[in-house]
Amino acid sequence: MLHIYEPERDYATPAPLPEYSAGYAALEVVELTIDGRPVAVPQGTSVLRAAALAGINIPKLCATDALEAFGSCRLCLVEIAGRKGYPASCTTPVETGMAVTTQTGKLARLRRNVMELYISDHPLDCLTCAANGNCELQDMAGAVGLREVRYPEGGENHLQAERDHSNPYFSFDPAKCIVCSRCVRACEEVQGTFALTIAGRGFASRVAAGAEQPFIASDCVSCGACVQHCPTATLMENSIVEQGQPEHSVVTTCAYCGVGCGFRAEMKGEQVVNMLPWKNGGANRGHACVKGRFAFGYATHPDRVTTPMIRAAIDQPWQVVSWEEAVAFAAGRLREVQQQYGRNSIGGITSSRCTNEETYLVQKMVRAAFGNNNVDTCARVCHSPTGYGLKMTLGESAGTQNFDSVDEADVVMVIGANPTDGHPVFASRLKRRLRSGARLIVVDPRRIDLVQSPHIRADYHLPLRPGTNVAFINAMAHVIVSEGLEDRAFIEQRCDQAAFREWLQFIREPSHAPEQVAAVTGVDAEALRAAARLYAGGGNGAIYYGLGVTEHSQGSTMVMGIANLAMLTGNIGREGVGVNPLRGQNNVQGSCDMGSFPHELPGYQPIGDDGVRSQFEGAWQVELDPEPGFRIPNMFDEALAGNFRALYCQGEDIAQSDPNTRHVEAALRKLDCLIVQDIFLNETAKFAHVFLPGASFLEKDGTFTNAERRISRVRRVMTPLAGKADWEATMALSNALGYPMSYQHPAEIMDEIASLTPSFRGVSYTRLEQQGSIQWPCNETACEGTPVMHVDEFIRGKGLFVVTEYVPTEEKVTRRFPLLLTTGRILSQYNVGAQTRRTANSTWHAEDILEIHPHDAGDRGIGEGDRVSIGSRVGETTLRASLSERVQPGVVYTTFHHPVSGANVITTENSDWATDCPEYKVTAVEVRRTTAPSAWQQAHSEFHQEQQRLLKGGPGEVSRDAAEKA
Ligand code: SF4
Ligand code: SF4
Ligand code: SF4
Ligand code: FES
Repeated sequence: MLHIYEPERDYATPAPLPEYSAGYAALEVVELTIDGRPVAVPQGTSVLRAAALAGINIPKLCATDALEAFGSCRLCLVEIAGRKGYPASCTTPVETGMAVTTQTGKLARLRRNVMELYISDHPLDCLTCAANGNCELQDMAGAVGLREVRYPEGGENHLQAERDHSNPYFSFDPAKCIVCSRCVRACEEVQGTFALTIAGRGFASRVAAGAEQPFIASDCVSCGACVQHCPTATLMENSIVEQGQPEHSVVTTCAYCGVGCGFRAEMKGEQVVNMLPWKNGGANRGHACVKGRFAFGYATHPDRVTTPMIRAAIDQPWQVVSWEEAVAFAAGRLREVQQQYGRNSIGGITSSRCTNEETYLVQKMVRAAFGNNNVDTCARVCHSPTGYGLKMTLGESAGTQNFDSVDEADVVMVIGANPTDGHPVFASRLKRRLRSGARLIVVDPRRIDLVQSPHIRADYHLPLRPGTNVAFINAMAHVIVSEGLEDRAFIEQRCDQAAFREWLQFIREPSHAPEQVAAVTGVDAEALRAAARLYAGGGNGAIYYGLGVTEHSQGSTMVMGIANLAMLTGNIGREGVGVNPLRGQNNVQGSCDMGSFPHELPGYQPIGDDGVRSQFEGAWQVELDPEPGFRIPNMFDEALAGNFRALYCQGEDIAQSDPNTRHVEAALRKLDCLIVQDIFLNETAKFAHVFLPGASFLEKDGTFTNAERRISRVRRVMTPLAGKADWEATMALSNALGYPMSYQHPAEIMDEIASLTPSFRGVSYTRLEQQGSIQWPCNETACEGTPVMHVDEFIRGKGLFVVTEYVPTEEKVTRRFPLLLTTGRILSQYNVGAQTRRTANSTWHAEDILEIHPHDAGDRGIGEGDRVSIGSRVGETTLRASLSERVQPGVVYTTFHHPVSGANVITTENSDWATDCPEYKVTAVEVRRTTAPSAWQQAHSEFHQEQQRLLKGGPGEVSRDAAEKA
């Protein structure tokens, strides 16, 4: 049973192998005595850790169990029978028969002397120090019985050293530093950024960020690992300085990305003081990034709209109303529309920011209360090809591994993903494995950080042209087959032979040879051949991929090509290998699992299957439509055609995130009723008639499912600001529509999900409390979940090779549009930026920038920082340009975190042939210098101001107005 509410213990040095690894249980056990007490621990354990495990506390300062032992503070000295001197117990491994003594008069004196030296150069301001009560230096002074300092005041010291307040989230006060190096080691070992060093020698040694720069100017990425592991108040969260030490903590899950990091929300009453990465978090193992760790202030930002609002038309002022009135108004409008235009004229969009339980309820309401299957989710625009491609080839719409698996990988191929920005905590894990010897292949049009960063250099960076993924993956397979590097035994035992033969014939065609496709992909044939040999023959080969794979007209084909490659080389079904989609939003895996697609009920069960449908009909007591409903792009098209008239959109900003913004906006303007549920009045809400205030992840109970299929608890730490959690709002709407829902707690919703979804059969809140998290499938055959899938056989039985013909995208460069625009994310902002833009994360990225190669910029007379117009065949916007050799000539790149950038004004509606996932990654554009905003940006600005006026001055004001009225 995990003790999720109790403080975490520090066992001083790491276990000899990670406790979750297969090798840990196989370690030989060593028996020794500590203070006469028999102790048995795995071989390789330090004496200090062995003592801690036995409940014997040896004083320590430079050691902590997240970092390798360093042996610098000399506080953990012990006596060992038969050995001379006083060895440091943190760097001394246990030996059979060892007799250790931790407390003697001599040891006590030595430790006191060490502490006395530390304290003589430390400000004696404990009572007013932010760390008071939570300071290891203070604790150790007490533990060793230090009562006085014999050194005279005024000696040489560091007490006047200048503080560094440059980082918006934490401060650095060198006067309090004991130079234990924990911060330096955390930055290296845990985060992998190497931003800190110990500069100087002896008494002059000090911690330095970068080349003795302020933190903000250094390479620091503000992950907070150094702050977390600093034993003093030297590195300290500003939130703790301002609010004081927290009083209690609750374990919950990050609401940003698909890594799904576990956190302790450290609280004072209902106020979050600090978010501390949870040591037992299965996805993050005690680490975090700048978003989850620090960017939580959005949850209580004054922009939160906390009262329901309605209006008759989008040029009318918003009217603040009660929940009952808003819900009755919304239900009335939905039913009116259906009466006039038919059952199929309305639909809903579920949110990948919301919990599994909430997503499940929205799709249930659409199917049961709306009476159709017009439900979709944002995975439509990101990883729907993953669902399709992996289901076709392997039999399940999800990644095959857990994150721990990367520790066993020998060769890692990263395709179309930028983990250090998009999935930073996984990236730290990956970088650690790379530093310890794994090889790396990066396939990306852009030179992402992983290609070369401290102590890491990719063996191959294959900078392919955007839109040529399938030609590339076919060439990889061609090399493996033509050089006989395939795993024949695996293919014979595990894969469908007829399909394999057909595929083999296809892939052997000379047209797939690297030399043939080089002209298309732009990838050097020899480098591709070498990368293929490395992946096939370098041991455990693991593929990690992102939206650079899926967001293409052949996204699904590429996913199947990746699965083909993994099966071809036997790289599936065990630790260290696999096909691993790095999923975007915190619960995008969950929203797909929960039946958010128009053709699938929860657990990817087809709506058209009579047996499946009848089970749901029995449980839900309603007849279900067997026909799949509209996907999001169909909803827009049908809205413009006048057939689709009302939409319930929960926690999804389609007006900013979906391609061809002008098309989306035109569709939204045509709706008779748009109901938006969100925590902010987002871009979509500007077109809405009903606004239902949403709840942040801190205000509700539920679960999120991350990229590893890991279901983790989200726990309510504060009362919903608007009075209702999102699942309660959906219930109210469903009840008003006449379809009753009466859950008392999300646990009941999960019980219903488990009863109807074979892969969730064993999931319950009780089991989640016991295990901490569960990776589905979790059922009769896998009671505790499934870290690695397809172990003995594929979910579909035999793995299916699928022929992956390369079909070039229709989006081609022309004389008019000679450059290819591709898009991505940066570390500090998140997606549409609704959360991160309302935090100090904007310090690092206040606007979206266009990266352009110096050659292309030179040809156009564009200089660094110039404003440029980017025009495609569907639209035009303007951004500031940055000259960068990270992009290849002919390719430009930007992010889409700021609404005013209008990045999606230029992206087209080209989409994946199987799933309609938009081709965000390939847009033919021309770039030229300009001084004026684009016509769309001007219109957007006017519309924004008009909507603010209709809010009587802004959302905060509406909330305040309402609060005053209340
Ligand atoms: S915050 Fe993270 S990246 Fe920055 S110095 Fe500390 S450990 Fe390194
Ligand atoms: S800043 Fe903290 S962790 Fe780093 S050396 Fe100083 S006391 Fe140790
Ligand atoms: S890596 Fe993702 S889940 Fe983890 S803290 Fe950062 S944003 Fe949150
Ligand atoms: S804890 Fe062992 S030397 Fe510091």
